[in-house]
Amino acid sequence: MKKLIAPSILSADFTRLGEEVRAIKEAGADWIHVDVMDGHFVPNISIGIPVVEALGKVDPPPMDIHLMIENPDEFAEKFIDAGGDAVAGITVQYETCKLLYSTVSRIKSRGVNAGIALNPTTPLSVLDEVFEYADMILVMTVEPGFPGQKFIHSMVSKVKRLREMIDASEHKPLIEVDGGIKLDNIRLIAGAGADVIVSGSGIFQSSSYAETMELMRKEIKGL
Ligand code: DX5
Ligand code: ZN
Repeated sequence: MKKLIAPSILSADFTRLGEEVRAIKEAGADWIHVDVMDGHFVPNISIGIPVVEALGKVDPPPMDIHLMIENPDEFAEKFIDAGGDAVAGITVQYETCKLLYSTVSRIKSRGVNAGIALNPTTPLSVLDEVFEYADMILVMTVEPGFPGQKFIHSMVSKVKRLREMIDASEHKPLIEVDGGIKLDNIRLIAGAGADVIVSGSGIFQSSSYAETMELMRKEIKGL
């Protein structure tokens, strides 16, 4: 499968959000990654339901919504309603779900991909009983909460181990990797087995989104 690049709009210029979404789409983004933070699960507050609703109206690339909130069981479907047809998937943090099976099932029943995200110190073993229900596993490679943090290098081995786990299984969820990914380390992460690569500051702080993504694609070509 072609590896996907999902720019995180958390690093976009929010004073011109619609334009930024159009620009990143024209530059070739496969998805846009939408980071939702509630100030409880993570020490930051970012995007909420009305902004996702607005994003849905500007003909965005498929939206990959990452919920870093305390109660995704309650809110996941509200984000699907807000983003409408533009929502490609909803990813919930394993650490926040009291009713993970129900939440994942409800997301899937709405016809969108259900992802499960793991914080850097959450072991892959927690996936054992839910793995077969997930469409995507997101490996956090920074502590969730802020863009522009440094990639935690030991996460490369976690991505490799997840790749081996999936290769040995009949069920093949996508692997998404999120946090601290830029032009200079994308090859390492894609080579470890990532299918979907999130990059926020690495793309939005560059002078040309198209050029940066083209260079990123060159880096991962053939993997
Ligand atoms: C971190 C978010 C990430 C982040 C990515 O909590 O989940 O998606 O915004 O930004 P960079 O690529 O700058 O680390
Ligand atoms: Zn994210």
